Amino acid sequence: MNKTVLAAIIVTIAMLGFTYAAVEMAGGLDKLIKDGDWVNMLAILGAVILVIATTFVVTKYVRQMQNDTASGKLAEETWDGIGEYKNEPPFGWFVLYLIMIIWAIWYFLAGYPVNSYSQIGEYNQKVAEHDVKFNEQYKDMDDETLKEMGGSIFIVQCAPCHGLQADGINGQAADLTARISEKSVKYVVLNGSNSNLMGTSMPMPDRNGLLNSNTSALITDAEIDAVSKYVAGGLTGTEGADVFAGTCAACHGADGKGMEMVAPNIAQMSPEMVGMVLNHGKKGAIGAMPAFTNLTEVQHKAINAYVASLSQK
Ligand code: HEC
Ligand code: HEC
Repeated sequence: MNKTVLAAIIVTIAMLGFTYAAVEMAGGLDKLIKDGDWVNMLAILGAVILVIATTFVVTKYVRQMQNDTASGKLAEETWDGIGEYKNEPPFGWFVLYLIMIIWAIWYFLAGYPVNSYSQIGEYNQKVAEHDVKFNEQYKDMDDETLKEMGGSIFIVQCAPCHGLQADGINGQAADLTARISEKSVKYVVLNGSNSNLMGTSMPMPDRNGLLNSNTSALITDAEIDAVSKYVAGGLTGTEGADVFAGTCAACHGADGKGMEMVAPNIAQMSPEMVGMVLNHGKKGAIGAMPAFTNLTEVQHKAINAYVASLSQK
């Protein structure tokens, strides 16, 4: 008998022996039949078939490698004398390839990626559902509760930059306990500003723009210093007041409280203004304040009210 076939028979018997031993260790075939355990009996049958089929196929190919001689039509090119047969790819491959393309299209459009469950989707849906409930529950808050909620949001979202005291941590971010610092006013007058504070992306003209737009002979460095101090001081005092009245009041109003669609309130922080900053972010003398789009309607209202109240003592 051929050595390979002999080896295959020995291996098959050995593996069937292992299978038998495993069944015995699990209680024996009798027990499985008594328990009516069809699932495990099927598994055993599968194992036996697998063992026999595997050794059969492996033996077949090993023998083929031992005995086969090459045949067929050779391609013309050779590489260092080594040629290649012109074999047609098996037809089954084409069929499989086609099925895979169809399956891929189905999978992409109707299966998982486009159309189906995702953890992120579920998370967003749950958050949206909760936000609706949250907005409903807190829609009629009195002023005190509103600011209290704003205060706790501030600690989480804003304090990392603005500080727990909202003082801007030595100029790292805007000091929210005052309407605006001298440095910031000066920066805006020199450079202009286009932070969308009005919600209309109307810019504040820069120094040259102010000159052109205005008849008064603005604006010397000393005048800029004076008007910056005047605005940062809450529009009190006399120094700078004339510059303000001559140049700034046309847009910001005589009291600095702004005009709708023209220029923002620079005398006081208002909830509307804080809301604009949160929606659009703000770039200025200190740096960039990021926009906050992750707050719910109610949280927005609360934080706006809270921050506006910080500078109004
Ligand atoms: C032509 C109209 C106009 C004039 C004149 C004008 N402003 Fe403005 N100002 C604006 C507009 C519009 C904005 C909002 C810009 C923005 O959205 O960033 C603004 C913004 C500001 C801000 C920024 C507010 C903030 O919170 O960052 C300051 C400070 C300011 N102006 C001060 C002045 C001073 C001081 C003068 C006079 C020297 C002046 N403005 C003259 C239109 C004007
Ligand atoms: C990543 C840091 C950072 C975080 C977080 C942050 N801010 Fe700011 N914020 C800044 C900076 C920087 C400025 C100053 C921008 C400038 O140069 O005018 C600023 C400016 C502001 C202003 C404008 C002040 C003014 O007078 O012009 C308001 C209002 C404000 N922040 C509110 C908030 C609120 C409310 C939160 C929390 C929801 C928050 N910020 C979170 C960095 C931050």
